[in-house]
Amino acid sequence: MNTPVKFTRHRRTRMTPLLRSMVRETELSKNDFIYPLFSVPGKNIKKEISSMQGVYQMSIDNIVKECEEVKSLGIPAVILFGIPPQKDEVGSGAYDADGIIQQTVRAIKKEVPGIVVITDVCLCEYTSHGHCGIVLGEEIVNDASIELLAKEALTHAQAGADMIAPSDMFDGRVQAIRSILDANHFDNIPIMSYAAKYASGFYGPFREAAESTPKFGDRRSHQMDPANSDEAIREVQTDIDEGADIVMVKPALSYLDVIRRVKDTFHMPTAAYNVSGEYSMVKAAGKLGWIDEQRVMMEILTSIKRAGADIILTYHAKEAAKLL
Ligand code: PBG
Repeated sequence: MNTPVKFTRHRRTRMTPLLRSMVRETELSKNDFIYPLFSVPGKNIKKEISSMQGVYQMSIDNIVKECEEVKSLGIPAVILFGIPPQKDEVGSGAYDADGIIQQTVRAIKKEVPGIVVITDVCLCEYTSHGHCGIVLGEEIVNDASIELLAKEALTHAQAGADMIAPSDMFDGRVQAIRSILDANHFDNIPIMSYAAKYASGFYGPFREAAESTPKFGDRRSHQMDPANSDEAIREVQTDIDEGADIVMVKPALSYLDVIRRVKDTFHMPTAAYNVSGEYSMVKAAGKLGWIDEQRVMMEILTSIKRAGADIILTYHAKEAAKLL
């Protein structure tokens, strides 16, 4: 006598590793990753960032070696942040044709062909006050700042950057950058815009790495309020209209819902930045033995991809690539 089926057995397809692999919906790949690097002046420098275990400020000679390793691991791209020798009120080091990033890009392009070099475009690492643009009184000025960001982007492209990634969140910057690139025959250089970037506490460790903590005030007048998601859609729409080729949501983990909305709304190549604080929490808990670090890392990266990200900027890239 047959027993009638009373319920659905979801577990049938979970019984063996092979069955699980057959029904798996999301597969991480090394091709998904962009590895962030911090370039500093000098020679033979490799200084660990105390709040970001395994991440270093490096001089150009070591950045070049690092890029060779990144490439040999099968990671297609790096994104560069620069710490200039001097900072000033208007962030001159950012758009100096011989600035730290411009030199770094030239060195990588010469020594390590076949890796995509992306440059972060912002002024916060270069200004004495640590803000992302020009400051007048209490105000972080928009329109004058985007002209400087456009100049910065142009010098990056002239140095050989393959892709430009504006991270400032000022209005009109994508258009300003697209125009200056096109006017100078860089019309084939893509823009990956930090399109929905939130004013987040998760950037804490990065500011140690990039030495870019604001001396006064905060970034809430240009970065987004963590409470908003419709606004993210408007921000992303604007960047696409202005010429962004890849749109980014940042941070990733507290904003998985935003990644999903952006992907479903625009069907654009979508990036997510698994930021410094997200990385440091995993490292700290792993060090204490409170979590299985590798397992949690892979789960986090998979969740970001499952949410809709095609591209993940992550400090875990090298470790994850070794496991894939
Ligand atoms: C700005 C910039 C920041 C990050 C990337 N680009 C910091 C900020 O907005 O204060 C944060 C990245 C991270 O936390 O890993 N140049």
